[in-house]
Amino acid sequence: MTLWLIVPAAGRGSRMQADRPKQYLPLHGRSVLARTLARLHQVFPEAALRLCLDPDDAYFDPDDVPFSEWQRVEGGSERVDSVRRALSTLAGKAADDDWVLVHDAARPCVRREDLAALSQALEHEAIGALLAAPVADTMKRADARGRVSHTEPRDGLWHALTPQAFRYDLLRQALDAALATGTAVTDEASAIEAMGLSPLLVPGGRDNLKITRPEDLILAARILSLQSE
Ligand code: CTP
Ligand code: MG
Repeated sequence: MTLWLIVPAAGRGSRMQADRPKQYLPLHGRSVLARTLARLHQVFPEAALRLCLDPDDAYFDPDDVPFSEWQRVEGGSERVDSVRRALSTLAGKAADDDWVLVHDAARPCVRREDLAALSQALEHEAIGALLAAPVADTMKRADARGRVSHTEPRDGLWHALTPQAFRYDLLRQALDAALATGTAVTDEASAIEAMGLSPLLVPGGRDNLKITRPEDLILAARILSLQSE
């Protein structure tokens, strides 16, 4: 059984407002993308990688890919389009029940223990699972005037992180269905949920942040310096 790894890295990083896409910004002497791939490789050295890159990418360095089996895939206009394109390269190669793990290039701080916990959870799982962290803040629902309508109970609310792992055929069907019905898909799990299925939440650290804005890069550097290599 092959473990397929999809890493969407075809975004432009507009919120980061840097001189290059955020996955190519330096983080402890290497690019964010190189750090993310190295972390994944430490736990899943045998996985087969599909790396989604912008067709006009001017920064990618193949030396940053530690996987022996990997393929570059042209990214699409949204994250979900990039993931769908990567999935389409698995047609005829992946078995229906192979696991496909999707992990954002912009999450270099994912802990090895969390990757291992996700992998372990899959051993007893039929549908799939995602790393997630319980919400710590008090959550407010706003009305149309930008005033508080009410406080949402925080119990049972989780931040969806990545990796998210689903069976190949199920994920393919779910993303196709979401496209056909116009369902908004901001992560793989939301497409699975739209099929009436309930992915498993695997508790993971909040330090698995998605580098989005400039301050996140400062945080990520600090987190990495506290984690052992
Ligand atoms: N991504 C992708 N293809 C896209 C858009 C995003 O592969 N068309 C990837 C990004 O490179 C990133 C991950 O999906 O690793 C999460 O997306 P996000 O954090 O939104 O990154 P960007 O889209 O690059 O950032 P922004 O939304 O600020 O432009
Ligand atoms: Mg984006």
